[in-house]
Amino acid sequence: MMKMDWKKGLLLPDARVRESMKTIGQLENIFLNEEARRALDQNTVVYRVQAWCPVPDGTEGAQFWGTTEIAQGQVDSEYFMTHGHFHLKRNRTEYYGTTEGEGALILMDETRRTWMEPMFPGSLHFIPPSVAHRVANSGKVPLRLVACWPSDAGHDYDAVRRFGFGARLLSVHGKPSLVRSET
Ligand code: F6R
Ligand code: ZN
Repeated sequence: MMKMDWKKGLLLPDARVRESMKTIGQLENIFLNEEARRALDQNTVVYRVQAWCPVPDGTEGAQFWGTTEIAQGQVDSEYFMTHGHFHLKRNRTEYYGTTEGEGALILMDETRRTWMEPMFPGSLHFIPPSVAHRVANSGKVPLRLVACWPSDAGHDYDAVRRFGFGARLLSVHGKPSLVRSET
């Protein structure tokens, strides 16, 4: 058994919880304006992840549970967001549920068609097979979500690192807008 703070969407401290984070310095070439990213404090935390993986990675038939907290902030006009990934096993799906904050789940299929779903407390999202996913925080407080995915899904970060998503969530005249990428 594990304990959650369901309001916040955080797992309570427990030795079985894996904790990780990504800083501005670790997100090279992820944001549109790389010069602006380099000019920021490289130690700024963009997001933190907790994961409860009760079986070994790659086990068929089980599920993992995680939470993600994306800080409020921007790199130039682009909102702080997660790296984003496809699942290594492309037919593995996932649920995201928002507990706190506002933002967008950005989704992209293998043809690079990109769309978004608004995230707000109580929003529940199904990530279909073969769809890359990332979350951007366009609100004024940390955006928190819970996630559940198959333990044999795996993560393919490479395609996103190399080609990005087909669109980005930018602040345009102060409003979050999904802006198509040129490539
Ligand atoms: C798991 C999943 C989430 C993300 C987390 C961080 O399949 O989608 O738990 O891993 O939100 O994002 P990434 O992994 O893109 O750095
Ligand atoms: Zn995932």
